[in-house]
Amino acid sequence: MNLSEYLSEADTIEREGSTALQSAADADALEAARIAFLGDRQGRVKGLQEALRGISKEDKPAAGKRFNEARTRLEALHAERKSAIERATTSGVQDDPSLPARRQWRGAKHPVTLVIEEIEGIFRELGFTIAQGPEAETEWYNFGALNFPSNHPALDAHDTLYLEGQGLLRTHTSPVQVRTLQKYEPPIRVLIPGNVYRRDFFDASHAPAFAQIEGLCVDEGISFVDLKSTLNRFAERFFGASRTRFRPSFFPFTEPSAEMDVQCGICGGSGCAACKGTGWIEILGSGMVHPNVLEAAGIDSERYTGWAFGMGPARIAISRYGIPDIRVLYDSDVRFLEQIAE
Ligand code: PHE
Repeated sequence: MNLSEYLSEADTIEREGSTALQSAADADALEAARIAFLGDRQGRVKGLQEALRGISKEDKPAAGKRFNEARTRLEALHAERKSAIERATTSGVQDDPSLPARRQWRGAKHPVTLVIEEIEGIFRELGFTIAQGPEAETEWYNFGALNFPSNHPALDAHDTLYLEGQGLLRTHTSPVQVRTLQKYEPPIRVLIPGNVYRRDFFDASHAPAFAQIEGLCVDEGISFVDLKSTLNRFAERFFGASRTRFRPSFFPFTEPSAEMDVQCGICGGSGCAACKGTGWIEILGSGMVHPNVLEAAGIDSERYTGWAFGMGPARIAISRYGIPDIRVLYDSDVRFLEQIAE
């Protein structure tokens, strides 16, 4: 074979090969075209390579160059057609209208939000209104009006996050008691959910920012009996038929004061890890509103009395859902949140 015969043979193989590869309708046809042209044993490109041997020494570089071009072009066309056929096949599957739809991820409420909303619902039925107050407070609302003596340790910078200039991040929702009493005439029945801030380390049972729910009831003739019966009714509704107990306590803004415990729902009172072996879960602090607080807010303490409580919905969520570490409530890890989501 002389050079011009070789070059025209290369042209023919390249042209016919291009047509065969490009017009292959499916994977089988493409494979047949590949074997015919690019196959290792009988492929026409292989034949063209073998024919190089019969080309004279001076013509070999030109013939070899033409051979390489033809082979490279056909290999590229094969790869191109192969991926086009694959794409067409898979997009055909995606377009199949009979396939079941993908499950949609819709998100869900946080466990603490679920607890707050359920508690709000119970107190709404008992005639309470939902109220809110600012998270950046003045020292007077957070401490002074609530009868804290000026040497109380809570005022210390080690416990409270003071803001530059003046003010602080409220350490509890109790300042909203004072704001409510200033704004409305008794009878007052409000429930106040909100976030509070303390200089606490983040550990298994503490967080520097957490939610509280405050309750306040002020009217003529309100007594400790009202406090106990309302909170017992709440515990019955929220925790089922659990028993409660009141333990004497101290807060500057209530007198007398009491902490309320609910019998542990996980062990039924026999003692387990969730209740630290005591059989009881501490739910809230409460008491009769101190007359100094009523007076500071401009309410006649001779005419009106009232009670208040403050509870931590994160603690309640932990005991309700058996969560071992409070920090998972702040991680926003959907693998955890999904297990509780309703
Ligand atoms: N404010 C108190 C606290 O943060 C709880 C409380 C509220 C106690 C209302 C009595 C009455 O610990």
